[in-house]
Amino acid sequence: MRVTLKLATSLDGRIATASGESQWITGEAARLEGHRLRAAHDAILVGVETVLHDDPELTARLPGRAVDQPLRVVLDSRLRTPASAKLAGENTLILTAAEPHAVGAATVRRVEVEDGRPAVAVVLKALAAAGAGSVLIEGGGQVAASFLRAGAVDALEWFRAPILLGGEGRPCVAALALAKLSDAPKFRRQGVAPVGDDLWERYVRL
Ligand SMILES: NC(=O)c1ccc[n+]([C@@H]2O[C@H](COP(=O)([O-])OP(=O)(O)OC[C@H]3O[C@@H](n4cnc5c(N)ncnc54)[C@H](OP(=O)(O)O)[C@@H]3O)[C@@H](O)[C@H]2O)c1
Repeated sequence: MRVTLKLATSLDGRIATASGESQWITGEAARLEGHRLRAAHDAILVGVETVLHDDPELTARLPGRAVDQPLRVVLDSRLRTPASAKLAGENTLILTAAEPHAVGAATVRRVEVEDGRPAVAVVLKALAAAGAGSVLIEGGGQVAASFLRAGAVDALEWFRAPILLGGEGRPCVAALALAKLSDAPKFRRQGVAPVGDDLWERYVRL
């Protein structure tokens, strides 16, 4: 499974204000590249806090072009995704630790957990079983940290906006529980380009 982590952050690596407001940190040009990235992956994955805060559609929308929509995936330990969520339709897979109940037309599947949350290895297996060969992780910070901690992230697509959100903003990567610097996940830069007012950095795992 090819795993890409997409981040849209402030210069100081925050993805939202303390209250969870994140739309929109980056500009229109960066968001269009985000839609291209979605269209280039078989699945798009987010954590339930992102669903609760942003209510994203999680579709790939490209001007003048029809797109085969990627599978939408939500990691939702306690099954808090509301049936009214925009993504609670067909082509959505919710992976949970809870007793399944209907969430709109989404498919809800109970999976093995680690520390009470769907385990990364199990999530990747479930995606492969659903026919996906690649996944774009769109956050938030807790889900990003889980995949990084598991060593499962192959590439980073990082859009950085020229704003500062300060220490009270939500970090783009939650705790990694590193004991020492040498344990940090390491990446090699593949490219860097301005996109509108933002900067797009691309990295692959070393
Ligand atoms: N700027 C951006 O690019 C961007 C992108 C996405 C989101 N955001 C913002 O980020 C904020 C949400 O981020 P967040 O870090 O608070 O939450 P998140 O990563 O979106 O969701 C975290 C939740 O996912 C559930 N989960 C299930 N399995 C998990 C696993 N294996 N690892 C981690 N989480 C798992 C957990 O629910 P339980 O607690 O029930 O276990 C956890 O609380 C929102 O404010 C949103 O607006 C910004």
